[in-house]
Amino acid sequence: MCGIVGYIGKNNKNIYLGLEALKRLEYRGYDSSGLAFYDPAKKEIVCLKAAGRISSLEKKIETKEKEEKKEMSGNPFIFHTRWATHGVPNETNAHPHFDNQKNIFLVHNGIIENYKELNKALAKKGCKFVSETDTEALAHLIGCFFKGNLEEAVRKALKMVKGTYGLAVISKDDPGKLVAARNSSPLLLAVGDGEFWIASDPSAVLAYSKKVIFLEDGEIAVITKDGFSVYDLSRNVAGSRKNAGRNQKKEKEISEIEWSLEEVQKGGHSHFMLKEIFEEPDAIRNSTRGRLIEEDGAVKLGGLETVEKRLREIERIIIVSCGTAHFAGLVGEYMLEEYAGIPVEVDTGSEFRYRKPIIDKKTAVLYISQSGETADTLAALREAKRKGVLVLGITNVVGSTQARETDAGVYNHCGPEIAVASTKTFISQLTVLALLTVYLGRQREMSLVMGRRIVQEIKKLPKSVEKILEQKDLIRKIARKYYKFPSMLFLGRKYNYPTAIEGALKLKEVSYLHAEGCPAGEMKHGIIALINEKFPTFAICLSDSVYEKMISNVEEIKARKGLVIALATEGDKEIRKIADDVIYIPKTLEMLSPILASTPLHLFAAYVGLEKGYDIDKPRNLAKSVTVE
Ligand code: BG6
Repeated sequence: MCGIVGYIGKNNKNIYLGLEALKRLEYRGYDSSGLAFYDPAKKEIVCLKAAGRISSLEKKIETKEKEEKKEMSGNPFIFHTRWATHGVPNETNAHPHFDNQKNIFLVHNGIIENYKELNKALAKKGCKFVSETDTEALAHLIGCFFKGNLEEAVRKALKMVKGTYGLAVISKDDPGKLVAARNSSPLLLAVGDGEFWIASDPSAVLAYSKKVIFLEDGEIAVITKDGFSVYDLSRNVAGSRKNAGRNQKKEKEISEIEWSLEEVQKGGHSHFMLKEIFEEPDAIRNSTRGRLIEEDGAVKLGGLETVEKRLREIERIIIVSCGTAHFAGLVGEYMLEEYAGIPVEVDTGSEFRYRKPIIDKKTAVLYISQSGETADTLAALREAKRKGVLVLGITNVVGSTQARETDAGVYNHCGPEIAVASTKTFISQLTVLALLTVYLGRQREMSLVMGRRIVQEIKKLPKSVEKILEQKDLIRKIARKYYKFPSMLFLGRKYNYPTAIEGALKLKEVSYLHAEGCPAGEMKHGIIALINEKFPTFAICLSDSVYEKMISNVEEIKARKGLVIALATEGDKEIRKIADDVIYIPKTLEMLSPILASTPLHLFAAYVGLEKGYDIDKPRNLAKSVTVE
């Protein structure tokens, strides 16, 4: 999830106005940034890029202005702030990217899935690549198609692209245009007074115009200083002259933005935590994009290709992580043992480091970390590296220390997570662990049929999570009913025991209530002593292999006048007879059920925190990433 901004208008615009717009998108990605603008005096495009926060780019602009003793202004111009997916965060991989003729300059938000194939074909045409990004392929492709008309070149190039994009392109040889296109990544056009802006979301341009047109998937916008036209990228009207449909201008509705800047950045939600919970369906989509091969019942994980052979020889996996990521590891243990047949141990970074783990060359150690910077996890990573075993990683931050120090790994690709309590990344970590299970399982005993079954079920997950999120009002009502209780118990069995402790952690993190997660079978060995009408329980009772056991645990609680909120599978009428409140979720494979069961627990915790009036984005005493031991 990157942020892009573009401008074209009657007058040259001071570059700082573009920079201010970009700063309002910094929450979308902040590992590098850049700009490009057409300088009519020089008849060329000036491009500046910088690694790190946007403030580094600002310094570069100041230096250049001092050198040239003149204010920087241009028309058109494009800006970008990056959240790396392909290629580590550095100046070369920062956007804009350009072709070898320095004619085409573009900024991109999304993933070009077939960039490796495109790069091969373009290299044969003599294109020289300077970055590790997927995006650069697009600049060269448009450059190759360019015959003087920018939108024609963009249209032809996008026909060959597989993946997602929000795109803004300018050209030295067709300078009077800003061309934008969208496929899945958000992009809008803001209509100002004699000027037009392009942006990933309204927060960037609200200060300049509240009149916006949201581009739809498959649309291309051609904007000049006098106006704009929006077309369908692909549609050809049947039976008419081949290009007729293509040039048909689309009528686009102009919307008036009422939201405040803060609201826009939070996507209309009151807090980033809520925004990120509602991004959980997309987190699954982005974590599986280009990785599911249904017909082979298999999974493609590019980041593991270099160690594919070593992974075949692995006979044991140790999963090491901290906080929420630790609970993802616990779910991974169940998945990998049951479906890939590999013995798994799970540990926290701080314990793994100081105990004496028995690890041999047939063991791989898998580190999971949203930030890739958690000191306890990194210290444990270096411990395993010292022993020369295969060290793997799952992380959300491209180029993070963990990503650099592991032998191989898988990125979550679920965009920046701002709220301290990890939500969408947890869902993505579970999804990636399911992918890894299929990947390793299919290297071993897992059948084509089972592989296909799991892949098909993974494909259904985003829609199922969306369905769960539609119950937000019910979950809020239940949160309002229980937020005054001083403590809560979370119960689950098998795959959903870790889900229960994740639910308890989320409630602790953002509501400061005492919450305990416990394997339901363990309750009778101790915790049941706490059960009474003042200590409610959230019980995960899905229609799976341990359903009957969970029901008897709920009955044990009801026998002691305990209140029970049950998480159940759609269609389960029985549970209503014993639980005080029920939240239903769609059916899926038991191994995937924690991915669906976690969302209502995340929402419940957020709503309890809000009922108690707390800032659920920045809970007390916590940090997003603890980089000290
Ligand atoms: C804590 C965060 O500091 O670190 C948690 O508050 C997170 O949300 C934990 O789960 C581990 O962080 P990471 O980045 O290693 O997954």
